[in-house]
Amino acid sequence: MGVIYLDHAATANPKAPGVGPAMLRSLGDCNGNPGHGAHRLSVAATLAVYEARATLAELLGVRDPGRLAFTAGATAALNQAIRGSLPEHGGHAICSVWEHNAVLRPLLEWRRRSGGTITFLPPGPDGAPFRPADLERAIQADTALIALSAASNVTGAIAPVAEAGEIARARGVRLLVDGSQAAGHLPVALDRLPVDLWACPGHKGLLGPQGVGLLYLREGLELPPLVVGGGGFDSAREDPPDEAPERYEAGTQNTPGILGLGAAAAHLLRQDPHAARAREVRHLDALQRGLGRIAGVRLHGAADPRRCVGVLSFAVAGWAPGAVAETLDRRFGICVRAGLHCAPMAHEALGTLPAGTVRASVGPWTTDDDLAALPEAVAWIAARAPEIAAPAEAARGA
Ligand code: ALA
Repeated sequence: MGVIYLDHAATANPKAPGVGPAMLRSLGDCNGNPGHGAHRLSVAATLAVYEARATLAELLGVRDPGRLAFTAGATAALNQAIRGSLPEHGGHAICSVWEHNAVLRPLLEWRRRSGGTITFLPPGPDGAPFRPADLERAIQADTALIALSAASNVTGAIAPVAEAGEIARARGVRLLVDGSQAAGHLPVALDRLPVDLWACPGHKGLLGPQGVGLLYLREGLELPPLVVGGGGFDSAREDPPDEAPERYEAGTQNTPGILGLGAAAAHLLRQDPHAARAREVRHLDALQRGLGRIAGVRLHGAADPRRCVGVLSFAVAGWAPGAVAETLDRRFGICVRAGLHCAPMAHEALGTLPAGTVRASVGPWTTDDDLAALPEAVAWIAARAPEIAAPAEAARGA
């Protein structure tokens, strides 16, 4: 049985062509410590990291590659952005109910520690993540940060980030965007967006390896660094470097991850982003139609695929989401994710607590055969009683 991979929102599979060879190169002819030495291998590594950063800057519409810091992933980038933006005592933050735990948990931890408050923007109409008017109303005199995901990892719904940015700018409030499900899916030019901070992983839509991500900081904005340590220069100085990217990159960098991500970005630069987006919308439309006509299947989220990235959540009557996912994998070789997808408030909003939903997500390598296979398999499942007990993670709502 071949594998039908429909879990690209969790991680892209396979990675972009060139990622593996670039990672091997980092362990070969540029296997020195980047920025921490002057011999040939160290210089080769430094140049290769620079090249990767410059390629990503070109892809993401960032004029100065130095405004992109490499991190250990989106979670690390979001923690840096959130903890570096909120006050020690009191203050106010705003986010939507669609946030992933990578945003929610740092915010909730800050609230416990500081005694600050958080406003959660309620869902907007027709599957929209929120109403810009609600955001406008939620801003207070002490609002220090607005944190919003660009697209939900549960329903795929795209947030009005540019509109939110205009509101934030007009009111002088910092805006952080979690681009985890948007990067590589939606064409983006970060310097032209009214956002202050933007975080994303390297291993999802950007088609790179796990363990590396990015934090974009608009020009002129620096944060207190979360992690401090060696930077390879100015070592006698007590303080960390003053500016991005070095200010946020203490210690030895993940050269295999960075070079792999650079190769993935080079691949994406060779594609037409508008054609890729049109294909994604077509794929989502096909899945929605195929699943939507099965008796007992309920789709969750926005109905219009043009308002979503390639993510779709559904439930099958009588079946725990985890049991559906396990049957799809075991019997049909179809890989999807079930549960809460680390976004518990999203499921509260959808009314899908405690077990969550089944989530299918498409990628650039998804074929028409893959898109036909999922509804066929789900129709088989929906016509039967569960043949397996709900796995533990579904009961827990992983
Ligand atoms: N955050 C990833 C997901 O949504 C892992 O599946």
